Amino acid sequence: MNVIRFSDLCAQGKVAGKRVFIRADLNVPQDDAGNITEDTRVRASVPCIEMALKAGAAVMVTSHLGRPTEGAFKPEDSLSPVARRMGELMGREIPVLADWVDGVTVVPGQLVMLENCRVNKGEKKNNEELAKKMAALCDIFVHDAFGTAHRAEASTYGIAEFAPIACAGPLLAAEMDAITKALLAPKRPLVAIVAGSKVSTKLTILKALAANVDQLIVGGGIANTFLLAAGMKIGKSLAEPDLLAEATAVIEAMRARGAAVPIPTDVVTAKSFSADAVATTKLATEVEDDDLILDIGPVTAQLLADQLKSAGTIVWNGPVGVFEFAAFENGTKTIAHAIAESSAFSIAGGGDTLAAIAKYGIEHKIGYISTGGGAFLEVLEGKTLPAFEILSRRAAQ
Ligand code: 3PG
Repeated sequence: MNVIRFSDLCAQGKVAGKRVFIRADLNVPQDDAGNITEDTRVRASVPCIEMALKAGAAVMVTSHLGRPTEGAFKPEDSLSPVARRMGELMGREIPVLADWVDGVTVVPGQLVMLENCRVNKGEKKNNEELAKKMAALCDIFVHDAFGTAHRAEASTYGIAEFAPIACAGPLLAAEMDAITKALLAPKRPLVAIVAGSKVSTKLTILKALAANVDQLIVGGGIANTFLLAAGMKIGKSLAEPDLLAEATAVIEAMRARGAAVPIPTDVVTAKSFSADAVATTKLATEVEDDDLILDIGPVTAQLLADQLKSAGTIVWNGPVGVFEFAAFENGTKTIAHAIAESSAFSIAGGGDTLAAIAKYGIEHKIGYISTGGGAFLEVLEGKTLPAFEILSRRAAQ
């Protein structure tokens, strides 16, 4: 993807003394008292800000937090806890400015955080007047919010149209590079793992990947629907029988390309969905009417692990079993370690996947861990994200 990179502008000395507006994704989970419970996105946003300060810019950073009502700011919408956390990480005070759209006073070397941009009227619908006002605040707009790259809002898209320069920050650029490496120019074989509770929520992803990958490993409730499509019994496991034709179409599309959707040959079942349920490993052909399939079996897990170890590229979205329960974690654990040990370039994304990566302590053995939720899924669907589109267009002007 051909976009202007903020790191290049810094290296070329084009940032000193400039007003730089950074759109980050600081949308982090908080508990009822407003404490940040997981700060990956804050930490991931710091390098861009430090890059701008080091280059001598006057720096503004903003983000959305949650889904507030436009024009009706409430205390819980405030980015103040985020500014505090970021301040701790950067070792400096970060003031939070409210009502900033009509003007911001910031000087080179200074960093200010602009209050939750989604409270501004017109943000979600990418109002042109709002976007132009935001663009007027800066000399350089830096999009560093991969988590919102699938949104065309005033602070993510409109501002990029009207700012004098619009470029990709280091986080967004790293995500772009990883996506390109994994999906557009992958070293083969390319193996994708797509798991989750429902085929319906990931059908477009499954269809898009079926046209590209060499091996499509399905897991969780999605695998149950594929087991049904393969003519197997799944007892009372979660599945979507009305999507059997779609699952069969994915299997056929893969087969027609000489690729495969491996169907589990053994599974781990229980009679109820609970952490202390008795786990029984059995052949997939022996599933009983009152069984729930909660994991792939060890033979299947080992087979998939061997395939992953010889992959050229791995895309991972979703745990293959109920890995939160010790008795049903073996499949996900085996796959996680196989990905970690594989020499393949791997990219992983999605909330549950990140939780599994953290549980097995393999963060440093994954090629790239995406900070995007919905944005990562839209990439897997083969969509061109609005952020990539507008930044490429601006680079071509
Ligand atoms: C996310 O949490 O995935 C991003 O911050 C985007 O948030 P949104 O879905 O509210 O736009």
